[in-house]
Amino acid sequence: MRILLFSGKGGVGKTSVAAATGVRLSQLGYKTLVMSVDPAHSLADSFDLGGALFHGSTGDPKSIHDNLWIQEVNIQREIKRHWSEITGYITSVLKTSGLSEVEAEEMAIFPGMEELSAMMYVNQYRAEKQFDVIVLDCAPTAESLRFVSLPTTLEWYAKHVFKLQRRVMKAVRPIVNRLGPIEAPPDSYFGNLQSLFQKIQGIDTLLEDPQITSVRLVTNAEKMVLRETQRAFVYFCLHGLTVDQVIVNRVLPDQITDPFFEGWRKTQRGVIREIEAYFAPLPVSTVPLFNHEVLGYEGLRELSDRLYGFDVDPAQVTRAEKSYSFAVVDGQYEVRLRMPFVQKAEIGLFKKADELVVEVGTNRRHIGLPTSMAALVPTKARLEQDMLVIGLRSAT
Ligand SMILES: Nc1ncnc2c1ncn2[C@@H]1O[C@H](COP(=O)(O)OP(=O)(O)OP(=O)(O)O)[C@@H](O)[C@H]1O
Ligand SMILES: [Mg+2]
Repeated sequence: MRILLFSGKGGVGKTSVAAATGVRLSQLGYKTLVMSVDPAHSLADSFDLGGALFHGSTGDPKSIHDNLWIQEVNIQREIKRHWSEITGYITSVLKTSGLSEVEAEEMAIFPGMEELSAMMYVNQYRAEKQFDVIVLDCAPTAESLRFVSLPTTLEWYAKHVFKLQRRVMKAVRPIVNRLGPIEAPPDSYFGNLQSLFQKIQGIDTLLEDPQITSVRLVTNAEKMVLRETQRAFVYFCLHGLTVDQVIVNRVLPDQITDPFFEGWRKTQRGVIREIEAYFAPLPVSTVPLFNHEVLGYEGLRELSDRLYGFDVDPAQVTRAEKSYSFAVVDGQYEVRLRMPFVQKAEIGLFKKADELVVEVGTNRRHIGLPTSMAALVPTKARLEQDMLVIGLRSAT
């Protein structure tokens, strides 16, 4: 099974590109599910399926064409299925602070719940071998990063917080129950949490395996959008995911000759050059701005033809290695990047704002550093077979 994850800044065209990819894959004969991981679902709208009708649906995969299913997770149903105990408890606590039942229920939907539900499904479909490819249409960057970092975060909570909380609760429950009005959570609450963890177990391995999961970043040819795309790239690398393509959507086509757009065209050309330099050796594909909204199966098919031409299979694994990875070894930060066929003497290294720039001959690789490492400076570099390992330490 393959998982293709589409991420990018708000409004750049993620849903359209993810849906169009689903169309192409299904035409190639793959059993394909396009799943919306965005709480503000717009996948069914993209296929022009009559919003109200679809949104009231069960949240199960819905067959919309040969080999093609779409799914918008219905969070209310997921709560009933998996989280009745947990949200029930949170609701009761919130109600004691004076909120109405409805308000409390609404507040008890905590951030990340949608993403968690989606992960459970991905895990389930993999086990049941239901689909050949799952295309994930993600929410804007920040939320999709939360999606990929959830397994690690949850594991940490499971290890440190919940176990501790459970022990503390055992001791204090008799007192709390007597004091009221806030009740201590019942034991089943913890049982519920535990079974939840089991359902997403192994998902991090799926996400980090480049043979299974590829991240595709959708962007527009604008500076502000590019900055966010670069940050997203860094964080996906940080979480061990493999980004294998950058898709620049809404590029002004050549047939627009109106002088009004000249400035825009110049900007776009410059930004596309910058994108190619920054993300090299990743392939950068472009999609033109259409003269109409991209909507419905036919509209999406047109987009997929423009994006993939007539012979590209989007499920193909084109990159089996991560662009770079971060690690802490003996208290020292390290960046590791694959650099086959280079000699140490050829390598130049310097820091530019929050980027590490690696030069080999006339080639340059920009490595964005995550916030926690942005203030560090490179100290030494060594080659371990074809891996360049750069040590970083604080400047002071
Ligand atoms: N190449 C294009 N040419 C013309 N219109 C486009 C193109 N790509 C996307 N659109 C239109 O732009 C709008 C936004 O696209 P879409 O919903 O795919 O963006 P998104 O990144 O998923 O947004 P959000 O961040 O809100 O989820 C839609 O109306 C879509 O039809
Ligand atoms: Mg969207």
